[in-house]
Amino acid sequence: MMFAQALDNEFAREVRAGLSRSGQKTLPCRYLYDEIGSTLFEAITHLPEYGLSRADARVIHKHAGTLMTRLPGRLAVAELGSGTGNKTYAILERLRQRQAVTYYPIDVSPSALALCVQCLGPLGQVVPFESSYLEGLRAVAARRAAGETLLVLFLGSTIGNFGPEAALEFLYAVRLCLRPGDALLLGTDLVKPVEQLLAAYDDPTGVTAAFNLNLLGRINRELGADFDLRQFEHVARYDDALQRVEMHLRSRISQSVRISGAETIADFAAGETICTEASHKFRPEQIGGMARAAGFRLAEQWIDCAWPFAENLLTAA
Ligand code: AVI
Repeated sequence: MMFAQALDNEFAREVRAGLSRSGQKTLPCRYLYDEIGSTLFEAITHLPEYGLSRADARVIHKHAGTLMTRLPGRLAVAELGSGTGNKTYAILERLRQRQAVTYYPIDVSPSALALCVQCLGPLGQVVPFESSYLEGLRAVAARRAAGETLLVLFLGSTIGNFGPEAALEFLYAVRLCLRPGDALLLGTDLVKPVEQLLAAYDDPTGVTAAFNLNLLGRINRELGADFDLRQFEHVARYDDALQRVEMHLRSRISQSVRISGAETIADFAAGETICTEASHKFRPEQIGGMARAAGFRLAEQWIDCAWPFAENLLTAA
């Protein structure tokens, strides 16, 4: 079989691997976030059905003062996946009341970082790192001043998009960048009624459906594929045992899709799905064990009751 424009890049390799497996087809959720996907995700955070981002912001706003009292001494702040840093404003504003602010936002999106510098720059020194989480954190750790405590922010329950093992591995890798006494503020969305979760991930406006389907659009645009987006539909499911919402794209018909850039043809049976994201939900009492296993101690936990969500202060043991 000849393919016009085979591309030797990671995206092409992961799409080929995920769509040619014999069991459940999968695509890594990080590819949901191209320009269009990031814009759609931003829209999701404003949906009435998706309370996660507002709860995250509420808890931070309410407890930023206490958070600062728990971390006395000279502090620098780094944020993994900062985006525009909008939730961080409250923390930096409090910090500014006691010292000059140094903030290191880490993100793969140059446009989000530019906005972040613009919005948070007035509060102090903002040093952006356009890189992956760990690469950026290693760079921050290498340049921090001696005697300075580092507070790392990982908000928005992005940790829930890792599987349990990958989450532990990731937290441990973060811990390796830190010194004892440094801290990680970890946002975790909590288990809540199934109907509420399904509405959050399958909203009646169809924004989450568009966010999910855009992944196929991205494969068309970047890998020269011929997905007909109208022949797939967005599905959200809750797996109670695994405590996670899954997003799938379900093929409406039996079809074959050519993905030239990945040198592959993906065959779909009618009703077959591609799993595009798992969003794990936590119980408050599970966080301590996860923290300990990764070399942290859970020092404090603040919970939003309107939309069950926990902000967890972990200190490096
Ligand atoms: C980024 N992440 C925490 C979101 C979540 O809730 O898992 C991504 C998302 N997917 C669908 N809606 C939002």
